[in-house]
Amino acid sequence: MKEQLIKVKSPANIAFIKYWGQTDSENVLPANDSFSMNLSGCYTELEMELVVDINVKELYIKDYKAEDYKKNEGDALQKVVTFYDRAAEYLQVKTDVGFRVKAANSFPKKAGIASSASFFSALAAAFSTAFEKKLETKQLSVLARLSGSGSASRSVPDGYVFWHRGISSESSFAESIAPPDYWDIVDLVALVTLDEKKVSSVDGHRCAQTSPYFADRQRQLAKRTPLIVNKFRKKDFEGFGTMVEEEAVSLHSIMMTQKPPLYYWSGMTLDVMRETATLRKKGIEAYCTTDAGENVHIITRRIYEEKVKDHFKNMNFVKEILTNYPCEGVRVL
Ligand code: DP6
Repeated sequence: MKEQLIKVKSPANIAFIKYWGQTDSENVLPANDSFSMNLSGCYTELEMELVVDINVKELYIKDYKAEDYKKNEGDALQKVVTFYDRAAEYLQVKTDVGFRVKAANSFPKKAGIASSASFFSALAAAFSTAFEKKLETKQLSVLARLSGSGSASRSVPDGYVFWHRGISSESSFAESIAPPDYWDIVDLVALVTLDEKKVSSVDGHRCAQTSPYFADRQRQLAKRTPLIVNKFRKKDFEGFGTMVEEEAVSLHSIMMTQKPPLYYWSGMTLDVMRETATLRKKGIEAYCTTDAGENVHIITRRIYEEKVKDHFKNMNFVKEILTNYPCEGVRVL
C-alpha cells in the first residue's frame, strides 16, 4: 500500500422491510431479508489518509452542524481498527500502513437515521481502495456488512436496495432493485430529538429472539416482504405505504417485548405518527416508519412534500425536517 488520500461519500438508508435479529452474529447474517432506499440528504463524507507509520490509527468525526472535527478514541476507534483488520482478511492483503480517518455527517448520528450505515459503507469503500482491490458492488456490500453494521451493506448499491439474508457470508449481499429515479418517493425525517440513542442496534439484535413474537414476525415477513416488493413494482403507493407503516410497528413490537425491552419510541414519535394519519384523512398520502430511534421518517411523494412540511412546520415537537430523495449508493470521489 502507498501513502495516499482517499475520499468517499456514502448515504444512510431507510428500511421499508427492517433487519432485526441475526442467525450468525460473527458473520453478521440477518434473520430476514430487508429492503431500503438510499437517502440523498443524510450522508457521510469520509477522507482516509494512509500513512507510512503502521501505528497511526486515528479517527476524527465532525458531527451534524459542528464546526470542527473531534478526535474519537475508545469504542468508536476500536470498531474502525477491528474493521480494518477484518477487511484485510476478507481481501487477503497485509496491513502495512497506518491511517487517519476523517468523517463528516450531514445529519445527527445515533438518532435512528442509520449513521453507522453511511459511515461503515464509506469505510468499506475506502479500505478496498486503500488495499487496491476493485470490488464489484455485491462484494463491496458483503465487506460493508462485515463491519458489524449490517445495514451498511444496503448503502452500497444505488437507489432502492434489497439485502438477501443468505445462508453464508458470500450469499448475504445487497443489490439494487430499482434506480433512484424509479419512483418519486420522498423521505422527510421529522427530528424530534438530536439525542443519541442509549442502546445500539448491535446490542438490540442479540436479544431480538427473546421476544415471544419473534418467530411470528419471521412467518409474517415471509409474506410481507414479497408483497411490499410487489406494491413497489406496481407503484401502488397506498398499498406500499400502508405496509411500510405496518412493518415499522411490527419491528417495534419485537423491540418492546424482547428482554431487556427496548423502548425507542417516545410520545413525540407517536405525535408525528398520529399527525401523519390526520394528513392521510385530508388526502395527503404519507406514512411513517422508524428505526432504532425516536425520530420519524415520513414517507411521501413529491406532490405532497410541501404540504407535509407545512403541516409539521408549526408543531413544536418537530425540531427540524430533513429532506431525502432516493439516491445513488457509495462513491469513491
Ligand atoms: C432498526 O446493526 O445495521 O435500523 O449499526 O445502528 O446501523 P446500525 O444498525 P444495524 O441494524 C439496523 C436496524 C434497523 C433496521 C434496518 O435498518 O433494517
